[in-house]
Amino acid sequence: MVLEAKNISKRYRKNGRFILKDFNLSIENNKLLVIKGQSGCGKSTLLAILGGYLKPDSGQVKYNGININEINNDKLASIHYDKIGYLPQSNVMLKELKVIDNIVLAAKLVKGNNKEEFIKKAEDMLAELDIKELADSYPYELSGGELKRVSLIRSIITEPQVLIADEPTTGLDTVTGKKILDYIKAYKDKGNIVIIASHDDNAEKYGDQVLDIRDTYHKQ
Ligand SMILES: Nc1ncnc2c1ncn2[C@@H]1O[C@H](COP(=O)(O)OP(=O)(O)OP(=O)(O)O)[C@@H](O)[C@H]1O
Ligand SMILES: [Mg+2]
Repeated sequence: MVLEAKNISKRYRKNGRFILKDFNLSIENNKLLVIKGQSGCGKSTLLAILGGYLKPDSGQVKYNGININEINNDKLASIHYDKIGYLPQSNVMLKELKVIDNIVLAAKLVKGNNKEEFIKKAEDMLAELDIKELADSYPYELSGGELKRVSLIRSIITEPQVLIADEPTTGLDTVTGKKILDYIKAYKDKGNIVIIASHDDNAEKYGDQVLDIRDTYHKQ
């Protein structure tokens, strides 16, 4: 899998200034890209464009050469379901459902009805992230760090080839943040593409590629 962005530009109508201008990147399997930059510089905007959730004003986003802005909605939905896991900056959970059901519902939507299999897998993943005992809790009973871990599990339980994680460690203590980053790195090491936006200095150390949104550079 190769994910490329070519000459991406974006400005929001509200104030008219360019958030992104002629932006380029390329990333392939087994690589973790960290996008950094100060608050408001456009990290979340870029991630949403890379995932095909927001259209750029100009430029192309290609998955294995396919421009995701030129395909129809059904095809885009199937790429979203099949290939992309998206961890949004703010946690999105259904408050009426227990943690385990939030995770399994998302998995079932994407991959069909393998409920028992997904429950087992979700329990294993919760255990790996030290929150096994929270399976039957409700989202409003969880701390921010616990919710982040649940969101992460929810976004990768179906094993998407591309994980896009927006600020996966914001607001967390160093130990918990590191645990999440280690887990994300392990997911990358299984052969996936991972892109994270972060202003956490720790996150930068995990990047095979680090990209400052105003000043592109690559670590070897
Ligand atoms: N839907 C929108 N309409 C208008 N302006 C927007 C919209 N979304 C974001 N912006 C503006 O675009 C700029 C970039 O926002 P974005 O969320 O991409 O930044 P960010 O780098 O992710 O910031 P943070 O580190 O705080 O999460 C900000 O100035 C923001 O106010
Ligand atoms: Mg953001």
